[in-house]
Amino acid sequence: MSDQEVKTESRVFPPPANFVANAAISGMDAYNALCAEAANDYEGFWAKLAHENLHWHKPFTTTLDESNAPLYKWFDDGLLNVSYNCLDVNIQKGLGDKIAIIFEADGGEVTKVSYKELHAKVCQFANGLRSLGVKKDDRVVIYMPMSVEGVVAMQACARIGATHSVVFGGFSAKSLQERIVDVGASIVITADEQVRGGKQLPLKAIVDEALGLGECEKVAKVIVYKRTGGNAPFNPARDLWMHDLVANQATECEPEWVNADHPLFILYTSGSTGKPKGVQHSSGGYLLWAMLTMKWTFDVKPSDIFWCTADIGWVTGHTYITYGPLAMGTTEIVFEGIPTYPNAGRFWDMIQKHKATIFYTAPTAIRSLIKAADGDAAIHPNKYDLTSLRLLGSVGEPINPEAWMWYYRNIGGEKCPIVDTFWQTETGGHMITPLPGATPLVPGSCTLPLPGIMAAIVDETGADLPNGQGGILVVKRPWPSMIRNIWGDTERFKKSYFPEELGGKTYLAGDGAIRNKETGYFTITGRIDDVLNVSGHRMGTMEIESALVANPLVAEAAVVGKPDDTTGEAICAFVVLKRSRPTGDEAKQIALELRNWVAKEIGPIAKPKEIRFGDNLPKTRSGKIMRRLLRVLAKGEEITQDVSTLENPAILEQLKQAQ
Ligand code: PRX
Repeated sequence: MSDQEVKTESRVFPPPANFVANAAISGMDAYNALCAEAANDYEGFWAKLAHENLHWHKPFTTTLDESNAPLYKWFDDGLLNVSYNCLDVNIQKGLGDKIAIIFEADGGEVTKVSYKELHAKVCQFANGLRSLGVKKDDRVVIYMPMSVEGVVAMQACARIGATHSVVFGGFSAKSLQERIVDVGASIVITADEQVRGGKQLPLKAIVDEALGLGECEKVAKVIVYKRTGGNAPFNPARDLWMHDLVANQATECEPEWVNADHPLFILYTSGSTGKPKGVQHSSGGYLLWAMLTMKWTFDVKPSDIFWCTADIGWVTGHTYITYGPLAMGTTEIVFEGIPTYPNAGRFWDMIQKHKATIFYTAPTAIRSLIKAADGDAAIHPNKYDLTSLRLLGSVGEPINPEAWMWYYRNIGGEKCPIVDTFWQTETGGHMITPLPGATPLVPGSCTLPLPGIMAAIVDETGADLPNGQGGILVVKRPWPSMIRNIWGDTERFKKSYFPEELGGKTYLAGDGAIRNKETGYFTITGRIDDVLNVSGHRMGTMEIESALVANPLVAEAAVVGKPDDTTGEAICAFVVLKRSRPTGDEAKQIALELRNWVAKEIGPIAKPKEIRFGDNLPKTRSGKIMRRLLRVLAKGEEITQDVSTLENPAILEQLKQAQ
């Protein structure tokens, strides 16, 4: 969004009276008071919340240890267990028979699991893992479909102190293998197949392919959840069925009490270099923030039916499916499949059927469903009863004001606040977001930081910028749910997030932002590094370039993002082949081949939407590719910048045409 648009958005939606009356943070005075509390006694603020909200097996005595900054530690001498906090604590509170998960499969079958039942399943699976020798500090890769079993697998790891690393089921064998190797997994948990849009797609076969790519000798066992009973390869010497593993296990399992900073999970995400980074998260600080954001941002109440549509393969699925809602004793909906099957009314139908009260999804889904509803009146949201909803959320990318207004009117019936939550894999939970009972909403703005989050906008030297001036988004103080390290690469952790230029202790988010002159509201203006956001998925341009040049046909490739109505950004690749530049049908054929190649190397989400072939790429005399020019070309705009430093300006004409 341009600065101009930020300034001209003048619609304001005050919090509805019923929210103000009942919200955890009610009114701006309450919000400001909490912010002041954090500013006056930062450690005291967090210590109080951590004592109040978490069950400690042994209470912590040190709140924040900054002695080895930026390797911060929070509550670390305290002992706790995340799974115990999510399950046992709620059963002790009398919620054993409350439904924890309403699961709806791709074909519409519904399964309901109570807290007691979930506890038993998690304990059995945790005991099963223990029987295989899995213990604290071991790493377990989870490559599973959306399922109760996926949540159980994650919680079971947490119960025994094993660190899980979930890999999204859309990633290729090669991406899976890279993550298995990097994290040093000893166990992989998967399913025979996954079901999406009525189609059965392989998972176990991909695991086998990944393990066959080498360097995976540490993987002793592959545990397979039977989702479809389809034709999956099975090696009895190494593989075992999840139902066999749990069959005779006890339904109680003594939790492993871990220090608060014990790594609960490692989740890979794209950065600006080729190799994805293993973002390492803690147990105590992470869970605290998962709970507080459920309370503050979602204002969750005991009667809520919460639905986050993310996949457990992404951080949103970790914090707002597996951990946050369960730690709060909430009933949540988990769904398998896609929003457009059996038709594009799936979300609305599920909200109606399960009486969802809080709905949290990504702008890209909203935009594609707007198009679908415009094209087919039968699945327009006005055909469904959505009156159970009281709050809407958005996550993963900027939401454009038009999509915001459609969401507000058509889904929320002009009565539900929208929380536009800005955060990242690295932040563990929401950072900048409206509070539904306090913050006046402005479409397209994530508004203000949560209490305790010291977000600011600075220039390249770290100096504060005044409101109205765009700059770099930073967080000036550590917070409990922050990334603890990049797995196996502390140097990269420091360089990526706490660069020396900013003093080495300020967290660099990697996004640009601007604050409104009058209100101080934040608007995120997009990544400042070579990271794209396609349908809310983070993709590194270098990662895609590396995949392309690994193809024997390709000599050179440069990848940039271009704005896209539905996916936010789309991947556009400029490619130079080792042979002469193809044109016409041949270009189409090779582009198709390369797109499939990228799908195989990384996963279908990384497929370039557009591929343009050139004899060369625009380069400076020192050989640097001029990406900013490629971005202009990808958008289909005229180049107005100075191109005098370009070695080969004639190439621009050739790359102008989309093939
Ligand atoms: O660029 C920001 C964008 O998504 C990035 C984080 O991506 P990821 O780690 O995959 O986590 C996504 C789910 C939290 C950010 O650096 N982003 C996320 N939420 C928003 C957003 N951009 C604008 N507005 C948001 N609400």
